[in-house]
Order: sequence, then C-alpha cells, then structure tokens
Amino acid sequence: MHDFEQYEDDFESPRHAKRPRKPRKSDTEQAARFEPVDVFDPQSSRAGRLTEAERARLAAVRESALVDPPLPPGADRWSTWGDGEQGPKPRPDWLVTELAAADSELGVLKTGKEADVHLIERAVPDTDRGCLLAAKRYRSNEHRMFHRDAGYLEGRRMRRSREMRAMANRTAFGRNLIAEQWAVAEFAALSRLWAAGAPVPYPVQRSGTELLMEFLCDEEGTAAPRLAELRPGGDELADLWHQLTGTLALLAGLGLTHGDLSAYNLLVHQGQVMIIDLPQIVDVIANPRGLEFLARDVANVSDWFRARGLPDRFTDTAALMAELVAAAGLD
Ligand SMILES: Nc1ncnc2c1ncn2[C@@H]1O[C@H](COP(=O)(O)OP(=O)(O)OP(=O)(O)O)[C@@H](O)[C@H]1O
Ligand SMILES: [Mg+2]
Repeated sequence: MHDFEQYEDDFESPRHAKRPRKPRKSDTEQAARFEPVDVFDPQSSRAGRLTEAERARLAAVRESALVDPPLPPGADRWSTWGDGEQGPKPRPDWLVTELAAADSELGVLKTGKEADVHLIERAVPDTDRGCLLAAKRYRSNEHRMFHRDAGYLEGRRMRRSREMRAMANRTAFGRNLIAEQWAVAEFAALSRLWAAGAPVPYPVQRSGTELLMEFLCDEEGTAAPRLAELRPGGDELADLWHQLTGTLALLAGLGLTHGDLSAYNLLVHQGQVMIIDLPQIVDVIANPRGLEFLARDVANVSDWFRARGLPDRFTDTAALMAELVAAAGLD
C-alpha cells in the first residue's frame, strides 16, 4: 500500500500550488509587453522606445516580483499549505488553510534518532485565525539507519531502480529519499486511519521530509502525555485497555497493525488513547512477517498493562491475538 509507486507519483509530479501574492517573473514581463502607450517617449526619434525612467520602473517591478513579501514579526516562513500533499477531507474546522498564513516555530517537542518533532503555530496575520501543529521532520543522517528494518518493506512494491540504487548506496540523494519515503508512508498511514475513524492526529500535510499534523494538547497547549508517563489505576486503566483493543481491532479489520506499538507511541488526549508514530505500519496480509509484527504489538502493550496492574483476565494475549487475526480475515 504505502509503496514506492505512490512515492513515485509524488516525486514525478509535485503539486506545487502557487502563492498568489508572488507573481511569476514571466507574468510581469508579459504585463510589461502590453503597457499602454504612455510608456513610450514622445520625444524619441524612434517610436516605441522606452524611456529611461520607465525602464528603471519595470526593472524594479521585476525585482520585487522575485521576492516574497516580508514575513510578519516572529514568523519563520509563509504557510507551506500549498506545497505538498494535503490531508483528507472533510478537513477539521480548526485547520488554517489560508495561503496568507505564516508559520512560527515555538520549540522542539522531541528529538529522536530518526525524526525531530517541533511545535509550530500557523496563523493568519492580523486575524484571530491560528492553529498549533506538530511538525515531524525526518532526518537523513547516515549515522543511523531506521530500526524499522527491511522486514517492514517486505511486501511493498518498489519500482524505480534509480531511486532504489541511490537508497541502497546511501548517497546524500538516496538518504534524503529514504527520509522522505518514511514521511510519505507515515502521512499515508495517518490519512488512511483518520479516514477510517481511528484515533490518530489529523494529518495536515506532507512536503519533502516534513509531516505536519494536529498537535494533541490540552486547553493550555500542553502536549498530551505518552501512555508510558502515566500511572493510571483501576477503572481508568481498564478503560484505556478497552479503548486500545478496540483500536487494534479496527486496524486489524483494515488488515493493518502498527508495527512498533508501545506505551511510548500512544498518547492520552482528553481521556482518549491516540496512536502516533506510524511510518512502519504493517500490512498483516501482504507482509510475510505480518502476523509476527501483530503478535509483537499485542505482546508489547499487554505486558505494559499487566505490569501496571491490569488483571490477567483482561490481558489474555492469546484471546486478543485470535480476535485480531479473525478481524484481519486470516483465521
Ligand atoms: N501529534 C502530536 N501531538 C502531540 N505530541 C506529539 C505528536 N506527535 C508526536 N508527539 C510527541 O513527539 C514524540 C515523538 O513522536 P514520534 O514517536 O512520532 O517520533 P519518533 O521520532 O519516531 O520517536 P521515537 O523514536 O521516540 O519513537 C511523541 O512521543 C510525542 O510526545
Ligand atoms: Mg515514537
């Protein structure tokens, strides 16, 4: 599903929407060619020649057409909404899609081996339209290879041999492609799961190695905690477990498992268990090791809940596994 074919489409035909405030140079030249007659010097012996002043004016127009207008104070870039793949529809109301919006970096949420997650605010200057986004930026450093090893890629089709060679040889181009490939895969996974009603942050957009998604936070803007940081007890623990197993069944029904599931890749957002960190999502049917990944995901979370005191009758791994295998249609 999230194969290189999809990536190839993206690579071949990036959908760059044009920012309306920045006309292309050719537009300006085109316009200049059809300037009215007053651009001509009536004193000139040769009709149709531009005056010096008019030449200078046109040069200034061309020059200014090549630079973006200055950013609002505190902003780091204009909104990249028009620059890449956009999230599924219907889009949430809170999402700022205006191209006139600007992005400000508010800080780093987490640095990791494979990606850094930053907090950004996307806001329309001089209005109250704004939203917080988590920006996951995949790295293309050579020093680490994805722990999500080749096993994950089994069952995915790859076609473009030039790109495959570049990735295999770890050229700078190839390393960047690998990083971009993971961003593409995570965006596709989030989009598919969000559309299926699974509890994942809304995937806003993906361009290059950067993925923007809904920032899961409380009213004050504090990031939702990882399940691993919480010490829920009793009913709350059982409720979180029920939510999680429901979500695993939903994924299994789509023929999927997370592939790297743990209490670190689950956030608790307003009492809801949300799944994050999905670039390696596994197609349990197409991937020859699909059931192995499914069993590992189930074992990881069962172990965590058991260690937190959830009675064994809830965390019957074999029974849960059988339920998920059936949901995937593999029994
Ligand atoms: N949408 C989000 N809303 C709030 N916090 C988030 C969001 N996405 C990621 N985070 C925070 O950033 C951390 C890292 O995100 P994620 O697990 O996707 O990246 P990662 O680099 O693969 O991390 P790791 O290697 O530690 O698994 C998460 O544990 C979470 O605390
Ligand atoms: Mg993670």
